[in-house]
Amino acid sequence: MLPREFGKWVFVFLVLSPTVFNPSVSGLDIRWASKKRHMREKVREMFYHAYNNYLTYAFPHDELKPLTKSFTDSLSELGNLNLEHLPQDYTGSALTLIESLSSLVILGNNTEFGRAVLWLSENLTFDVDARINLFECNIRVLGGLVSAHILATDSTNRFLQGNYKNQLLILAEDLGQRFLPAFSTPTGLPYAWINLKYGVMENETTESSTSGCGSLILEMGTLSQLTGDPRYEAVALRALRKLWSMRSSLNLLGTTLNVSTGEWIEYSSGIGAGVDSFYEYLMKAHILFGKEEFWRMFHSAYLAVQKYFRHGSWYHEADMRTGRATYWQLTSLQAFWPGLQVLVGDISAANLSHREFFHVWERFGVLPERYLLDYQMLHPTEKYYPLRPELAESTFYLYQATKDPWYIKVGESIVKSLNLYTRVEGGFASIKDVTTMQLEDHQHSFFLAETCKYLYLLFDDSFLADRNYVFTTEGHPLPVLSSWQEKLPEAYILSNWTSIKRERQGRQASAMSLQVCPANLKLKDGGKQVESACHVPDAFADHRCINDDDCGVDSTTCRRRSCSMAGYCGLWLLI
Ligand SMILES: *[C@@H]1O[C@H](CO)[C@@H](O)[C@H](O)[C@H]1NC(C)=O
Ligand SMILES: *[C@@H]1O[C@H](CO)[C@@H](O)[C@H](O)[C@H]1NC(C)=O
Ligand SMILES: *[C@@H]1O[C@H](CO)[C@@H](O)[C@H](O)[C@H]1NC(C)=O
Ligand SMILES: *[C@@H]1O[C@H](CO)[C@@H](O)[C@H](O)[C@H]1NC(C)=O
Ligand SMILES: *[C@@H]1O[C@H](CO)[C@@H](O)[C@H](O)[C@H]1NC(C)=O
Ligand SMILES: *[C@@H]1O[C@H](CO)[C@@H](O)[C@H](O)[C@H]1NC(C)=O
Repeated sequence: MLPREFGKWVFVFLVLSPTVFNPSVSGLDIRWASKKRHMREKVREMFYHAYNNYLTYAFPHDELKPLTKSFTDSLSELGNLNLEHLPQDYTGSALTLIESLSSLVILGNNTEFGRAVLWLSENLTFDVDARINLFECNIRVLGGLVSAHILATDSTNRFLQGNYKNQLLILAEDLGQRFLPAFSTPTGLPYAWINLKYGVMENETTESSTSGCGSLILEMGTLSQLTGDPRYEAVALRALRKLWSMRSSLNLLGTTLNVSTGEWIEYSSGIGAGVDSFYEYLMKAHILFGKEEFWRMFHSAYLAVQKYFRHGSWYHEADMRTGRATYWQLTSLQAFWPGLQVLVGDISAANLSHREFFHVWERFGVLPERYLLDYQMLHPTEKYYPLRPELAESTFYLYQATKDPWYIKVGESIVKSLNLYTRVEGGFASIKDVTTMQLEDHQHSFFLAETCKYLYLLFDDSFLADRNYVFTTEGHPLPVLSSWQEKLPEAYILSNWTSIKRERQGRQASAMSLQVCPANLKLKDGGKQVESACHVPDAFADHRCINDDDCGVDSTTCRRRSCSMAGYCGLWLLI
């Protein structure tokens, strides 16, 4: 359904809302629907294969080792290759169970969800001597808990009939409080590591990353909304603002930094590891909380990415100070970017880079972690595929936006590869080397939280039918509620948006292009030489256009954009 409150949101949700593009029913549609049902059931079966094996061999430890049918307590020191502070008395936090909660809701498994909540509320404690990564623990555990709490206590009871109160929220709040000491630095940028029991450890490293400091706002902001305690949102916002103030004059950020001084350590960055979710959270925080500040940051950051990192459909890395290209590498984490571009409304750009990632997937059977574009070869050591979700995620978003059946075929191909290469008797195993398909004894929790969820939603989006959700970077859904939205300036509220809605039905609209007009690019050379950033803002204070000439061209397609009735520029493609 389209939201009632704010005219400017209408187009974000046109992209997301599955009801808008319903094709008329025909024989073809019926065959198509049955194919999608068949695929959905396949994905359901995969989820349970992963989940039941976890329960049998690993629970309540953190993650399953599917080859040896054992477990690993991986939440502790997650992401630390040196494992220098492995705890003595840590015995797991049921990480994979927590990560599975929102997927169980989407799969409609009431009873299992109820069993899990009961177990967690009685047995889970965060009072453990474990050094955890703030970023990972935030997106996996805090995000998993707050999302499941909201779904369980939804006032319409449309998912679950159990009598849920605040069991999960109590856990989330306890965890959130344990995060707070990490932010006690001179800059407000959080330490990357904290001990759940003892807070920041002596001699803890002061090095952190852009995503580590800048992707906390969705979960911490949600926790503040749910508890009424403003501290969580406040510390996350302070860190985000500080981080943004550290951008270069080109509006670029680096990858790693010193949380004591606010100085950059690694000046090169891109859209992949160490940075990716920073961009994602600016856009998603804007959708969830309606704050203009997030939009302004996102907009500048997005333009800079398109200008300095993009090369055709690929993205390389660049030095934040000069904008000069540094590393020409494709990393599998980058494959989330087309999904983000769909939310922005940049469908054609999303489509093009998604296709490139899928070509790489087809070539190797899965996505290798790192591929050297300049040498056209795999990175010598990072040849692995740890069951990552990003390509499935982008495929889901693009199918939502376009309903192009081609994306269903991409989904089928992903499902087929996962079953062919990674499925073992004891679950799903990561791939150690994509050239040999040698397996590794690890089933990451995000396989259940994200990979299976996005594939399921690709084939069956009925979960999205009557509410809009923002998915966190770990795939946990948070509902877009008008009561969480900051009040917007009058100018954003269209007085007559019903007529605009009718006008745009059946069309593909760009949320971003509705907010921003491009520069008055005067097309020379018949429109061929345009290599500008997408959607360069115009000189008008309110970004509104008067006629088509104000709107210039779309940099990816070189198509002329037109000015909509409401005074916004867009590529109004008829579908
Ligand atoms: C819910 O999950 C449990 C555990 O995997 C399983 O035994 C049960 O059949 C599932 N129920 C439904 C309705 O899928
Ligand atoms: C979980 O809590 C219940 C109820 O307190 C208890 O019976 C059970 O033994 C606990 N399970 C574990 C694994 O500690
Ligand atoms: C912290 O580092 C200093 C200097 O390297 C060392 O003397 C001290 O023992 C360390 N403290 C702890 C608790 O590791
Ligand atoms: C961060 O800056 C402080 C103060 O200059 C310094 O002592 C510390 O070693 C720096 N940390 C890193 C990771 O560079
Ligand atoms: C995506 O790209 C393909 C290949 O260039 C093209 O055929 C298709 O129409 C594009 N779809 C959209 C929605 O832009
Ligand atoms: C809204 O626009 C439609 C179509 O342009 C028009 O028929 C209708 O009267 C307008 N409503 C208001 C309240 O202005």
